[in-house]
Amino acid sequence: MLVEKQYKEMEVRATDAPLLDWAGDGLAIALFEDATELTGELAALDQKFAGILKELIAEEEFKGKLGSTTFTRVGTGSAVRKVILVGLGKTDAFKPETLRRTAASVARLAKKQKCKTLGISLPVANNDPATSAQAIAEGVQLALYQDNRFKSEPEEKVIQIETVDLLGLGDQAAAIARANSICSGVILARQLVAAPANAVTPITMAETAQAIATDHGLHLSILEQADCEKLGMGAFLGVAQASEIPPKFIHLTYKPAGTPRRKLAIIGKGLTFDSGGLNIKGAGSGIETMKTDMGGAAATLGAAKAIGQLKPDVEVHFISAVTENMISGRAMHPGDVLTASNGKTIEVNNTDAEGRLTLADALVYTDKLGVEAIVDLATLTGACVIALGDDIAGLFTQNDELAKQLETAAETAGEKVWRMPMEEKYFEGLKSSIADMKNTGPRPGGSITASLFLKQFVKDTPAWAHIDVAGPVWADKENGVNNSGATGYGVRTLVNWVLNNP
Ligand code: BES
Ligand code: MN
Ligand code: ZN
Repeated sequence: MLVEKQYKEMEVRATDAPLLDWAGDGLAIALFEDATELTGELAALDQKFAGILKELIAEEEFKGKLGSTTFTRVGTGSAVRKVILVGLGKTDAFKPETLRRTAASVARLAKKQKCKTLGISLPVANNDPATSAQAIAEGVQLALYQDNRFKSEPEEKVIQIETVDLLGLGDQAAAIARANSICSGVILARQLVAAPANAVTPITMAETAQAIATDHGLHLSILEQADCEKLGMGAFLGVAQASEIPPKFIHLTYKPAGTPRRKLAIIGKGLTFDSGGLNIKGAGSGIETMKTDMGGAAATLGAAKAIGQLKPDVEVHFISAVTENMISGRAMHPGDVLTASNGKTIEVNNTDAEGRLTLADALVYTDKLGVEAIVDLATLTGACVIALGDDIAGLFTQNDELAKQLETAAETAGEKVWRMPMEEKYFEGLKSSIADMKNTGPRPGGSITASLFLKQFVKDTPAWAHIDVAGPVWADKENGVNNSGATGYGVRTLVNWVLNNP
């Protein structure tokens, strides 16, 4: 199927074998910035390689700058074919994310150098070998992932890395298994976002949720259009009404074996395409990239896939109201008044502010589940991209505790978020003369009014946060563990949030 694993299996494993005894195609070692003196094991390795490391450092003027790499061939007859040197940057900035990014650079270079077997020896960050092994395993797998699904032939017939040995970290099978589960979720999210709107439709999204439920033992409930009508989801269905493809309201539930320690919910905006509706997106609006408008839902399903494998003692609900925002004779008219499932009325002064309409009914539904916290991820506004750029998501919540949890989860994941203000006064911009509110405010502060709009649909849940991921779901060029294209942004943060909170 379309969203199934297309990438070649690669095995990451941790080994107790000493660095000096490792044999294979590529051996990567690392140096901190301005600490290129070889000591201890590295000095011994240099000796074993007849001084080749020292020579390489001198010849290449290798300074250990973060992300810098160089390599050389070790003489014929050696048990190691090539040695790769990678820079770790400054010691005081060294953290698990450094390892994730460094491992990504190493993996890319090793692949280019046609290594089938790769050994990686990197220092432990945070005094935590498990977290370090997890970060390295994630960096390698995420950097090597390649999407060939839409090519009639694979672009390049390159040698693939088959095994990656993590050296010097002890037995880290559990940490690597954790990385594998998380990466399978990130890669699912990438595949869903990267697939065009004629390949990933609301039906495909529902099928994907079904596959996750079947594979990992989650419970799935799909509300069809008629079910949504019965629940009075007029806002969601207003957006869906011009599409030829039926909307799907997806609700996946993960329940732990015992009594759950916490109950949480994750919601993702799921617009498999956003044409803008009758306020159609014009030239230069990026309409051709609007297959990515289900990036929140993709992260939600990716997190579900990971959580289904990691099996924490937390109950988690994964929800998305999935549809397309299209035009036809049945389309919403600009100015239509819709009634959401909590009875609130919305004047649709702009059909292109559709995400918040679908989220309104998803939030009302989720608010009734009795969870302790809701986090929604949405490619909601261009305004958030203007504010924070392509790499950073906007975090909106009035709950400081939840903000802290999510900031920590994102930091550990190596995904960037920045907390934004939810300035209540700006809700005035959404005042409507005909309905309870308009769906669109003035241009200034557009991501803030969007979050204040969403807030109208959360009543009983103690903590709620909205993350605007319009920027980081897509990368124009390779950066860190991301290749150019879909990033799978949000999966790692969500998984950390579910796993690590009291
Ligand atoms: N899906 C878009 C937001 C978006 C823009 C995502 C650019 C990724 C990149 C959203 O539905 C939208 O169209 N928002 C409008 C809101 C406006 C009409 C108030 C926007 O941001 O222009
Ligand atoms: Mn839109
Ligand atoms: Zn949209």
